[in-house]
Amino acid sequence: MSDRPRRIVIAITGATGAVYGVRLLQHLQHLPGMETHLVLSDAAVLTLHQETGLQRREVEALAHVVHKVRDVGAAIASGSFQSDGMVIAPCSMKTLASVAHGLSDNLIARAADVVLKERRRLVLMVRETPFNLAHLRNMTAVTEMGGIIFPPLPSFYHNPTTIAEMVDHTVARVLDLFGIEHALAPRWAGMKGAPAAAPDA
Ligand SMILES: Cc1cc2nc3c(=O)[nH]c(=O)nc-3n(C[C@H](O)[C@H](O)[C@H](O)COP(=O)(O)O)c2cc1C
Repeated sequence: MSDRPRRIVIAITGATGAVYGVRLLQHLQHLPGMETHLVLSDAAVLTLHQETGLQRREVEALAHVVHKVRDVGAAIASGSFQSDGMVIAPCSMKTLASVAHGLSDNLIARAADVVLKERRRLVLMVRETPFNLAHLRNMTAVTEMGGIIFPPLPSFYHNPTTIAEMVDHTVARVLDLFGIEHALAPRWAGMKGAPAAAPDA
């Protein structure tokens, strides 16, 4: 049994929803035995600022290790670097396309390529609406390669009252995919009572 830290690569790309990456980093920052490796795309720096008001350095301060998106010589660019997988949160259609076609044209796409080839867990929080056929085909290709397409779609059955609750509910499901403990969102325990009008049996 390895005593290395649990390593998760987190990439934030320029799709809307930068807060998902931020919340992941915030949760993992102080979790014992965890080591996050962060890569921000250039477009992510824009969306982070637009959507959260955070500067690059403030987001990078949430990670244990930071890599530059053009540094394809970084540790996470090699399969010999052992990690538990990678989350792209959120994942733009551009980065999805790059991963789907194995382009490895920057460190995010290369790290994802490595995670796929090493058969580790890759979660793409893809975000666009509506989808065109290229998007759909690229999602299918990543799924066929073993990646997990995880659009950050909010759920309503837990009766959220704030955006933060909606975000955390989604982030919690991503953490579940890696078996990482959290108390970000309550777990479903069945319906709260009989519906006002029960459907016919
Ligand atoms: C405010 C803003 C929101 C965006 N939202 C999305 C989005 O939801 N999905 C997407 O695929 N691209 C979106 N884009 C466009 C991407 O940022 C753009 O395609 C960029 O080249 C992606 O590069 P990256 O994957 O290297 O981050 C958005 C851009 C901006 C400025």
